[in-house]
Amino acid sequence: MIGQKIGFIGGGNMARSLVGGLINNGFPAGFLRVADINTEALATLQADFGVTTTQDNQDVVQNSDVVIFAVKPQVMKQVLEPLGGLINRAQPLIMSIAAGVREQDISAWVGGQVAVVRCMPNTPALVSAGVTGLYANAHVSPDQRQVASAIMDAVGITFWVDGEAKMDAVTAASGSGPAYFFLVMEAMEAAAVELGLKPEQARKMAIETAYGAAKMARESENSPSVLRANVTSEGGTTAAALDVFERHHLKGLFREAMQAAHHRSEELGELIGQS
Ligand SMILES: NC(=O)c1ccc[n+]([C@@H]2O[C@H](COP(=O)([O-])OP(=O)(O)OC[C@H]3O[C@@H](n4cnc5c(N)ncnc54)[C@H](OP(=O)(O)O)[C@@H]3O)[C@@H](O)[C@H]2O)c1
Repeated sequence: MIGQKIGFIGGGNMARSLVGGLINNGFPAGFLRVADINTEALATLQADFGVTTTQDNQDVVQNSDVVIFAVKPQVMKQVLEPLGGLINRAQPLIMSIAAGVREQDISAWVGGQVAVVRCMPNTPALVSAGVTGLYANAHVSPDQRQVASAIMDAVGITFWVDGEAKMDAVTAASGSGPAYFFLVMEAMEAAAVELGLKPEQARKMAIETAYGAAKMARESENSPSVLRANVTSEGGTTAAALDVFERHHLKGLFREAMQAAHHRSEELGELIGQS
């Protein structure tokens, strides 16, 4: 990735995390350029990281090997269309982190055959613990794939999917996934308060237990299923709780919930494309 010039269009939360992650990983600030219409966001990025900033999106396309589109999905079309001519001439790698925006729409809006990598990061990317699914169209070279992975690795882990339709599954799993765990923490906090713990103790207990379990699962060679079995003695307290989850078909609920997220992701992709 050394020697690559990386540009951002949109300098909000996600771009800030990526810029911070890249610089923490030793990427030179002088090779990073950010465009935004929000001068305050630009001033903070410049002051905090020493990156080059501009209000001119064309300047980023002209001076970057990789252009990362980090604007909201609903403005992608209006941002991309005026840049089409330049992108077709300069042929940078286009990376889009805009949720739900499909590669075929990006290519249509720039009006040509360009190398596009679609990225679906999740919110923990903001604290460098993200999970990002990546999809490359046929114009992306092996070297460009490596560069795209290395960029998103700056804010967590990455994996490639082999068909764009699978990005809807990524959305249902890791994209929406943090909210599933927040809901579990919320429910544990409320139940612990009902059992007599102080609210602040209950919240800390729920959050730290989730963190501890995730850390253990991450560091262990065993699957979550084995780890669960290891802490469940017959006739014990954990078994009593897990019996209740089983009777209420918790796994079936997850299946149904994630199918609903998957379906909604497909619908939203269609809607953005028609916008
Ligand atoms: N945040 C997450 O955890 C997360 C997770 C997964 C995917 N994403 C995706 O990441 C993308 C960015 O999200 P974000 O949370 O970073 O959004 P954000 O904080 O709102 O950042 C977007 C930035 O783009 C600027 N902008 C708007 N129109 C522009 C234009 N025409 N040219 C240049 N800049 C323009 C916005 O300025 P104004 O504020 O003045 O409008 C804002 O500073 C979204 O597409 C989202 O779907 C985010």
